[in-house]
Amino acid sequence: MDDQGLLKFPDGFLWGAVTSSYQIEGAWDEDGKGPSIWDTFVRQPGKIERGETGMVAADHYHRWQEDIDLMGALGLKAYCFSVSWPRVLPAGVGQVNQAGLDFYQRLVDALLAKGIMPVVMLYHWELPQSLQERGGWGERDTALAFADYARLMAQALSDRVPFWVTHNEPFVSAMAGHFTGEHAPGIQDPIIALRATHHLLLSHGLAVQALRSSLPATAAAKIGLILNLTPAYPASDSQADRDAARRQDGIANRLFLDPVFKGAYPADMLEMLGPLFPEVPPGDLAAISTPLDFLGVNYYSRAVVRHDPDFPILNASQVYPPASEYSQMWEIYPPGMFDILKRVHDEYHPHEMFVTENGVCVPDGVDFDGKVRDDRRICYLSDHLAQVHKALQAGVPLKGYFHWTLTDNFEWAFGYRMRFGLVYVDFDTQARTIKESGRWYAGLIRENCLDPENCLSPDNALA
Ligand code: GCO
Repeated sequence: MDDQGLLKFPDGFLWGAVTSSYQIEGAWDEDGKGPSIWDTFVRQPGKIERGETGMVAADHYHRWQEDIDLMGALGLKAYCFSVSWPRVLPAGVGQVNQAGLDFYQRLVDALLAKGIMPVVMLYHWELPQSLQERGGWGERDTALAFADYARLMAQALSDRVPFWVTHNEPFVSAMAGHFTGEHAPGIQDPIIALRATHHLLLSHGLAVQALRSSLPATAAAKIGLILNLTPAYPASDSQADRDAARRQDGIANRLFLDPVFKGAYPADMLEMLGPLFPEVPPGDLAAISTPLDFLGVNYYSRAVVRHDPDFPILNASQVYPPASEYSQMWEIYPPGMFDILKRVHDEYHPHEMFVTENGVCVPDGVDFDGKVRDDRRICYLSDHLAQVHKALQAGVPLKGYFHWTLTDNFEWAFGYRMRFGLVYVDFDTQARTIKESGRWYAGLIRENCLDPENCLSPDNALA
């Protein structure tokens, strides 16, 4: 902190935004793309609010140039996007769709031409439907197919892409997709969810190995994984609630962090899950713990947890402290950002870390004068970035921060009701408007400096 209370970020700190293919691209069946599990899932009645789908989404497949111009206007240093696996491999394996590869190559070239560093993520939940028909993440073969897909993408883009991510949030893929069934493929079976957990992690490790062997040694590319990490706090001091918080932390955080960084599943989770957890073949944990260059942490909120014998397996459920502040989806709890970053650094020691998602869904809309006054988003960002800065001061090796997300998009089961963008999208016309939060973020990037007490000061705005 300097003497005016400003928080300065390190030179070269990578300020970015992050998106995901299904949530923005649309063009769900264009130019040879195959169907993904999300294309199938959204058609099932009752799965998505108002029956909405990502068939058009933010039409990014056609408007990518305009979107890159918006990134330029915001001054982004980096952009993390996911590749739609069935856009490049319509059946998941075998025949390559050159038009799909061309799309991502054009995108990367245009980003580089604007001086924006591309970060390529291989999986933000778009499993090719034909692989689901063969058992999806419940089957080991899917992990092998993923490694082949990683190799293909490395061959197509490795000369230009410095940062690679295997998976985004395997916890959500596994659990929302196969345990609660809120997400594609909509399965509700704890055994399949845990098989999926293991196969997603295995696919990560195999993809790291495939990327390393395919990226040119000269490229100095970095490879990482993105986990959504939710710090768990007990609802009271009772031993029962503290144990419940420990179990919640186990299932949401340690079940993923431990195998990747320590080469072992947490013993208390294996004991709790018992026969529900699959047999782990020899060698799998060695593959899963293949060394990484960085870990991406997605942080939105915390979990306050109490002992709950009615909640299956975990015997723990979340409570919502009444005095806290809430967004449309979650509790707003900035200190959790520091807590999780510091804890991961202390216990798991990733070489480098990024915040790869953070953002908030609050009601916003275009005012009479064409502005989108999303002050609550600005305050959320300011409060969370102050915690990021505190983590830097505490020695956490953070190299950048990616805002979720660039434009409003398709928010999964909520459809288009939930808006997280720095840029407002009118989904009838696809017109884009930079929100006040986008202007604020641009100012922050330009100054590389945060004024945490004055987040709504007009001086912060983009000229
Ligand atoms: C998620 C996803 C995003 C969401 C975002 C807001 O990481 O859960 O990466 O797709 O849209 O988190 O819910």
